[in-house]
Amino acid sequence: MSRQPVEYTEYLQLEKILHAQEPESFKEGTPAHDEMLFIIIHQAYELWFKQIHFELDSAIRVMLQEEVNDNSPALQTIVHRTSRIVTILKVLVQQIDILETMTPLDFHDFRDLLRPASGFQSWQFKMLEARLGLKFDHRYGQEYYLSQLKPQYVDLIKKVEAEPTWLELLERWLVRMPFFADQDLWQHYQSITKESSEHHVFWNDYREVYRSTLSAEESGNADAFDRIFLGQGEQHTTLSPAAMRAALFIKLYSGYPILQQPFQMIQNMLDIDEQMATWRFRHINMVHRMIGSRVGTGGSTGKEYLQGALNKHYVFRDFALLSSFLIERKRLPELSPELQKRLGFWG
Ligand code: HEM
Repeated sequence: MSRQPVEYTEYLQLEKILHAQEPESFKEGTPAHDEMLFIIIHQAYELWFKQIHFELDSAIRVMLQEEVNDNSPALQTIVHRTSRIVTILKVLVQQIDILETMTPLDFHDFRDLLRPASGFQSWQFKMLEARLGLKFDHRYGQEYYLSQLKPQYVDLIKKVEAEPTWLELLERWLVRMPFFADQDLWQHYQSITKESSEHHVFWNDYREVYRSTLSAEESGNADAFDRIFLGQGEQHTTLSPAAMRAALFIKLYSGYPILQQPFQMIQNMLDIDEQMATWRFRHINMVHRMIGSRVGTGGSTGKEYLQGALNKHYVFRDFALLSSFLIERKRLPELSPELQKRLGFWG
C-alpha cells in the first residue's frame, strides 16, 4: 500500500498546537495583551524540555548497556546528544529576553488569574533534574515539591528517582576505565616515588607532584586530595574515589586521542550544570523585576526559594571540583610508552 502524502499542517499537527492557547483574561472578557506571550513562551519551554528528555533518554539507554564500548560509535552518540542538550539549554536561557519585554504592570493585568498555577508545577523540569541526578533528599524546598505538584506527577518523578540517574551511569562508566587494571600498560613506567601503596603507583606520583604545587594557603587541598581521590576519611563527593580518579585522569591527559570523547563528555556535564544555573539565575532576576519580593503564584517564598534551588541543585559539581586538583602540563608524570600507544589512534 502506498503511503499517504504528508501535508505540512497535518505532519506538524498545527491544528492542535495553534489552538492550544486559551488566555484566562480573554475568557473573562478583558483581554490582557501579554498573556498570549506568557502562554506561548511557557509552551515553547515545555516543547524544548520534551526534546531534552528525548535526547537524555536515548543517551541513558546507550549507557545502560553493560559495557559501553569506547571503541564503538556508542560513546560518540552520547557525546553528540548531550552536546545537543547544552545547545538547547542555551536557547532556553536566551528566551528569557523575550519574556522580559513584558513589564510588571503588563503582568499584573493577568497574574491573579493564574493562581495557583506556577512554573514550579513543570513536572518535565523536575523530572529533568531527577533524571540528571538530583535526589529528593538533596532538593531545596522539599515541602513545595510535595504540596505543589499533583500526586500523579510526584509519582512520576519518584519513579525516575528510583531508576539509575545519568550521574550514576557516569559513575559506572568512569569506574570501568581500563588503563589502571592492565599492568602490561605500565611495564616501562618511570615512577618518581617508587612507593608501593594500595593505590596505583601513578597516583602516588601524582599526589607528590600535586602537593609540591600547593601554596601555604592551599595546604588543606592535600588532605582533600587524599579524601576525594584515595578514599581516606569522610567522603563529600557523590562520585566515588575510583570514579573521581578516572575523571581526573581524563582531564589531565585529554590531549591523547582516545580520551577526547570522554573529556568532551565531562565538558558537556559542566556545560549542562552551567546552563541550568544560568537559566535559574536569569529566571530569579526576571522574577525579581516582575514581582519584587511578593510570593509566587505557586505559594513558595518566590525569590528566596529560587535562590536556594540555584545554590543547591548543581548535579555535576564533582566535575567542577576536579579543577582544584590540576597542575601545569609540563609537570604531569610521563606515561609509559605502552600506555601512550594505547591512548593513541593506532594503539
Ligand atoms: C513573569 C514571568 C515569571 C515569573 C514572575 C515566575 C515566577 C516564579 C516563581 C515565584 C517561582 C517559585 C515557585 C512559586 O511559588 O510559584 C517559579 C518557579 C519556576 N518557574 Fe517561573 N516565573 C516566570 C516565568 C517562567 C517561565 C517562562 C518558565 C519556563 C518554563 C518558568 C519556569 C519555572 C520553573 C521550572 C520553576 C521551578 C524552579 C525550581 O523549582 O527550581 N517560569 N517561577
